Amino acid sequence: MHQKHLWLLLILIILVLLYSFRELHCLRKWRSTHQSLVDRYRKFECGTAENNLFIKYGGIQGIMGAVDVAVSNLIAEPTLANVFSVVGQPTHRSGLELKACLDLQFSSLLGFALPYPSRTFTRGISVNARNMRDSHRNIGLNITTAQFNTFVNILATSLVQAGISQADVNALAPTLTAMSSDIVGGPLN
Ligand code: HEM
Repeated sequence: MHQKHLWLLLILIILVLLYSFRELHCLRKWRSTHQSLVDRYRKFECGTAENNLFIKYGGIQGIMGAVDVAVSNLIAEPTLANVFSVVGQPTHRSGLELKACLDLQFSSLLGFALPYPSRTFTRGISVNARNMRDSHRNIGLNITTAQFNTFVNILATSLVQAGISQADVNALAPTLTAMSSDIVGGPLN
């Protein structure tokens, strides 16, 4: 191999190692702050102060079930297909990563004590979830208002289908629709 190529390979290896160390460091830091909380919620050891919708609907397992139903329904919708086609492509989320982010977001929305965005902990993977603007508008998904409305309607129906009461879904709806300014349209930065 040419000496120039060897140098490039060496630099690449160093960059990959630096990135892996940084990720590992972030994960360790996140674990030391949040792991006991995640463990407690996984085991369902919750006090009365945590007697919220997250607990009512079965904790992590219940949320994951609802996310599975919602994602199946959303990817089956033809008018959303052009946007969802990026899932699994290089630089985009895999299906599993997307579900893990949604697990965290809906856990948080229903009262789980970890904030969204933060690090995900479900489905055997841990990724840094992004905020709505950086994961929709700013990566150029160019979602239309019609697509946003379709998405929220399918999501709401799916949550009911997964066992969440219509009243609780209705209470969640304004929080979801308020996200449209970060989701609909082209990049802002
Ligand atoms: C209230 C409405 C919405 C919520 C709560 C929501 C939630 C999320 C979450 C939590 C993520 C993962 C964030 C991350 O990657 O770190 C995500 C990514 C994504 N969402 Fe949404 N979303 C909404 C609307 C939409 C709509 C309307 C579409 C399509 C029509 C859409 C398509 C996608 C796609 C394709 C990704 C993956 C982006 C990538 O590949 O990196 N979302 N969404």
